[in-house]
Amino acid sequence: MKPSEQKKYSDIYAKERKKINSRLESAFSKREPRSLYKPSSYIICGAGKRIRPLLVLLTAKSVGGKFDVAYNAAVAVELLHNFTLVHDDIMDNADKRRGRLTLHKKYNESTAILVGDSLLSVAYEFLLKDCNGNSKNILISFTNGLVEVCEGQGLDTEYERRKNVSLDEYLLMIKMKTASMIKMCCRIGSTLGGGSKEEIKGITSYGLNLGIAFQIQDDLLDITADEEKFGKRIGGDLLEGKKTYLLIKALEKAKGEDRNALLKVIDKKGIKINQVNKYKTLYEKLNVIDDAKNLINYYTKRALKSLYVIKNENDRKILIWLADILLKRNN
Ligand code: IPE
Ligand code: IPE
Ligand code: MG
Ligand code: MG
Ligand code: MG
Repeated sequence: MKPSEQKKYSDIYAKERKKINSRLESAFSKREPRSLYKPSSYIICGAGKRIRPLLVLLTAKSVGGKFDVAYNAAVAVELLHNFTLVHDDIMDNADKRRGRLTLHKKYNESTAILVGDSLLSVAYEFLLKDCNGNSKNILISFTNGLVEVCEGQGLDTEYERRKNVSLDEYLLMIKMKTASMIKMCCRIGSTLGGGSKEEIKGITSYGLNLGIAFQIQDDLLDITADEEKFGKRIGGDLLEGKKTYLLIKALEKAKGEDRNALLKVIDKKGIKINQVNKYKTLYEKLNVIDDAKNLINYYTKRALKSLYVIKNENDRKILIWLADILLKRNN
């Protein structure tokens, strides 16, 4: 892709991110009680990438709709995403998100639980504003996405306690906890934009595969990223004994002492913070970092294949560009 095209697309992303941010900021600025909405603003005003709202807008446009038909839905998916983050951080014992304290650490757990519930309800408020002619399909997609995230998060916690998790089981779990919502953003955008059945199907499939790649990348960044840029604690998944792609794949390959070290992560339900580097070295030795990169590339390619349904070249290319910047992300 030409540098001039990349610049054009990254300018669109920056411009739309700004618009989304200002809508998110004003969503809670005047609402009462402040004891609820001030902590809601805290999470929502953190430095998120806003990938999900961007996908809603771009996919609406890709089938001939204007961004304007989807701004409220775009805000809604970001609110929903933030709800899942707040509850996820309690479940994962995480103390850092978007470079700051997680909500339950900054405030307390009961505040964080309620803020999560409230983000979800306000998300529906916003979504309903964009629900016109085809509102039932929009609500079905949104609700299905949410149900799947919860089921995926259920599997994620179930796997924490299990000794053996296969790669297929892992893929099912990440499809549910992460890809389902990215898929949902694409479905809602292309539906609001007035896409045909075939267009919606192709664009939804782009979202699903992009979402799978996105979570494997998140697992990879958990160990390879720079903490300052990532905004989350490095090795957080190892500390909690999460069945990530890296751990499952490493277990598949390791023998002898290496295998015993990996089994310890499971037996002891996580490692100590001063052991993170040791496991990073082990992952490198077993080459599972490259395995993860290959799988991320595989799912990204699959995502791009479904974009043939988009007729307008510019609208198709910006979605290709987005998949590419996600591959190169460091947060
Ligand atoms: C984090 O999502 C949760 C996952 C599904 C991996 P993002 O990486 O999109 O987080 P923000 O919104 O940019 O902070
Ligand atoms: C999160 O998966 C998926 C959600 C539904 C929020 P992770 O637990 O890996 O997300 P991070 O790494 O905390 O953002
Ligand atoms: Mg987490
Ligand atoms: Mg989690
Ligand atoms: Mg993660």
